[in-house]
Amino acid sequence: MKVAVIGSNGQLGADLVEVFAARHEVVQLTHHDMDVARAESVREVLGRIRPDVVLNTAAAHHVPKCEEDPIHAYLVNGIGPLNLARISSQQGFRLVHYSTDYMFDGSKRKPYIETDSVKPLNVYGATKSIGETYLLNYSEYGYVIRISGIYGKVPCRAKGGNFVTTMIKLAAEKPEVKVVTDEILTPTGTIEIAKNTLFMLENDASPGIYHMTAQGESSWFEFASVIFSVLNLKTPLLGTTVATMPSPVKRPFYSVLENKNLKNQGLDRMPHWRDSIENYLWEKYLG
Ligand SMILES: NC(=O)c1ccc[n+]([C@@H]2O[C@H](COP(=O)([O-])OP(=O)(O)OC[C@H]3O[C@@H](n4cnc5c(N)ncnc54)[C@H](OP(=O)(O)O)[C@@H]3O)[C@@H](O)[C@H]2O)c1
Repeated sequence: MKVAVIGSNGQLGADLVEVFAARHEVVQLTHHDMDVARAESVREVLGRIRPDVVLNTAAAHHVPKCEEDPIHAYLVNGIGPLNLARISSQQGFRLVHYSTDYMFDGSKRKPYIETDSVKPLNVYGATKSIGETYLLNYSEYGYVIRISGIYGKVPCRAKGGNFVTTMIKLAAEKPEVKVVTDEILTPTGTIEIAKNTLFMLENDASPGIYHMTAQGESSWFEFASVIFSVLNLKTPLLGTTVATMPSPVKRPFYSVLENKNLKNQGLDRMPHWRDSIENYLWEKYLG
């Protein structure tokens, strides 16, 4: 199949390109090639390429910047998927769109499944939620894949790094590093998301919403502890609470996702988060 990857130089996009290119023809699209917020741009570029599958990683996802500029966030996270969905139905390609655990407010305190009601707490989550609605209503072959706490080989362009690079930087610069113990999620490697997306599509998963995170759950502090331990970072790592770190943005305290739809179709290949981060650190920093 011919696969177009939107945001191909981003953190997730780079791993999608690598994994899909091993088995399929891949066309890489950066922001320079196409603006998802402009329907004409999307129609013209995809009309020329004629892909069978489009993987959309484009997003405005620097969470504080989304609060400051909600119109930009809506254009990229809402109108972008609307454009892609309409054009996917006209041109007949399968459309995979990546979304977020920030759909939820965290009050469930148990892993969220795909049919749980969404209740985003911030502009980023709300605009991504609108994008999901458009995508599912306007695309005949649309997949929404919700992911969480991602890290990959290439730094996140919107955030200038990821949690691992932030920990390494803070450990080098600060006398001690404080990380919150009361925000619970499932950190997930982009390489595994790319592999499981390929597996899903090759096995004709039915269109709809999918949760695709690693197994298990972790606080940011527990995740940081594994990073410090594997990389042998000697700076003291201390636990703290969200209340001690005031932020203008509301975030869910609990956003663990269960991969129920993947499991129901026998398509859940995601590893445990701890195995995944250990492999990643060994390969990237110690190999
Ligand atoms: N980071 C996380 O922890 C996390 C958690 C849950 C979900 N997600 C979701 O995961 C996805 C991928 O994240 P990532 O870390 O791979 O992001 P990233 O590294 O920032 O990559 C995003 C890509 O999209 C491009 N892009 C931005 N606006 C665009 C537009 N209007 N038109 C076309 N391309 C545009 C960016 O190009 P430029 O940089 O040149 O603009 C970049 O290539 C996003 O949908 C995000 O919402 C991320």
